[in-house]
Amino acid sequence: MLRNLNKLVQIQKAKFATAAAPAPHTKPEILYTGLFINNEWVKSSDGRTFQTENPTNGSIIADVQQAGKADIDKAVDAAKKAFKLGSPWRQMDASQRGYLLNKLADLVERDRAYMASLETLDNGKPYLAAYHGDLASVIKNLRYYAGWADKNHGAVLPMDGKYFAYTRHEPVGVCGQIIPWNFPLLMAAWKLGPALAAGCTVLLKPAEQTPLTALYLAQLVKEAGFPAGVVNVVPGFGDAGAAIVDHPDVDKVAFTGSTEVGKLIQRGAAGSVKRITLELGGKSPNIVLADADLPYAVEQSHMALFYNMGQCCCAGSRTFVQDSIYEEFVAQAAARASRRVVGDPFRADTEQGPQIDGEQQEKILQLISSGQQQGARLMCGGRRGGDSGYFVQPTVFADVQDHMDIARTEIFGPVQQILKFSQLDEVLERANNSEYGLAAAVFTKDIDKANYLIQGLRAGTVWVNDYNVFGNQVPFGGFKQSGIGRENGPYGIKNYTEVKAVVVKLTEKNS
Ligand SMILES: NC(=O)c1ccc[n+]([C@@H]2O[C@H](COP(=O)([O-])OP(=O)(O)OC[C@H]3O[C@@H](n4cnc5c(N)ncnc54)[C@H](O)[C@@H]3O)[C@@H](O)[C@H]2O)c1
Repeated sequence: MLRNLNKLVQIQKAKFATAAAPAPHTKPEILYTGLFINNEWVKSSDGRTFQTENPTNGSIIADVQQAGKADIDKAVDAAKKAFKLGSPWRQMDASQRGYLLNKLADLVERDRAYMASLETLDNGKPYLAAYHGDLASVIKNLRYYAGWADKNHGAVLPMDGKYFAYTRHEPVGVCGQIIPWNFPLLMAAWKLGPALAAGCTVLLKPAEQTPLTALYLAQLVKEAGFPAGVVNVVPGFGDAGAAIVDHPDVDKVAFTGSTEVGKLIQRGAAGSVKRITLELGGKSPNIVLADADLPYAVEQSHMALFYNMGQCCCAGSRTFVQDSIYEEFVAQAAARASRRVVGDPFRADTEQGPQIDGEQQEKILQLISSGQQQGARLMCGGRRGGDSGYFVQPTVFADVQDHMDIARTEIFGPVQQILKFSQLDEVLERANNSEYGLAAAVFTKDIDKANYLIQGLRAGTVWVNDYNVFGNQVPFGGFKQSGIGRENGPYGIKNYTEVKAVVVKLTEKNS
């Protein structure tokens, strides 16, 4: 059994290793720290800067220009001018927008090792995950939406009467995009790809913890040949995000981050009825039935939670295991987590780097302590890791009850909660008993049981016998308080499209 498990662990690690990654730049040069407005690098209006930190050791990487309201006004102004009727961007062929997006993907591909290294430095994620996971997905996403640019068309409609009726798919306009720190570059790509394919202009605000890769990407946008003002990148804090939401000339806000801030954005957008898409938090159920391949389900459930240091909105953070295999599953899950390699994210054998910052580390440790106080069984981990940086030991809790804080709150850290169930109806009700509805998974060999759960689970994604599987063609987003709208696939570009109905009077009409 254990040999089998080890084999699976190797398979999981090899998931990324489709081709060798070049050596990382362990000290990548920091080239861009300004505000990128109108294809120029500028300083903040009030001279403010902020420091971005290396979470592996707490050292300061760079001082970055900090956008305030006046800078957001400038960026909106640039994006608005770029969107003006008759501008190079508005007059550009849709296929040329696709060409530029493909060019951007080429440039990211050219600089992939450097950009993956920069992501590892600023975010702490293992370099191999950044290179084979994030960067590969960024490139594919840009190419996917490059293909959409000249295919987002309307229809001719057989309207009653002497009329020629058709729909135009027009860009929504100026889009404010506010992104988080857990997948900094990938979230930038998920936002930029569909917006640019649709013909919108953009101001993108990276998270204050991780501005560096979005700033480098901005320079590549310029190099690719996008006209000035089409993409503006404005690093800053929540006040800069709020200024984007409040700005009357921003037509749409796309946000990924916490449910708390998502609610603020929804309220703020109401004033001018801005279009919004929200990708928010989750507490996703991962259901393992007694007939599942146990070592495989243990390994997948491990990755469902621990991938990216547990900092995934769709993390499988409520692992429901059927009673007859519960104790064996818990033992294997704890053994797997205990073997998890934590350390320097630039090392090839490292599976887990640091959490993003001291605040997140503290929040996670407090939730671990609440789990112990509320009676969950701590199987391994439970403490901060290392002497410096923001590491947390891989932690597994058994005997978790639905009412506990660790079963209800989004921990966003390497802490696995394992709950016990006995009946399908029971697990379905408990899985759905959450304010969130982002993702869910089912592990079973029984197709009827799988179908029953697929139909009953209230979540934007349901994986069967796998976890964390993403495709640019496949929509991603949440039910309930996990969000509004979908990213990726054709649904993604719809969020950046206004449909205009055109009705032209005819003098004659023939079929
Ligand atoms: N769903 C996700 O992908 C995701 C990502 C990051 C964090 N989170 C959750 O959020 C928790 C807190 O993390 P966080 O504080 O970095 O997330 P956050 O929601 O505060 O930050 C996300 C982005 O929103 C911006 N922002 C903050 N306040 C804003 C405001 N009032 N108006 C507009 N923009 C604003 C931030 O500057 C950042 O760019 C985490 O512990 C985790 O549970 C979820």
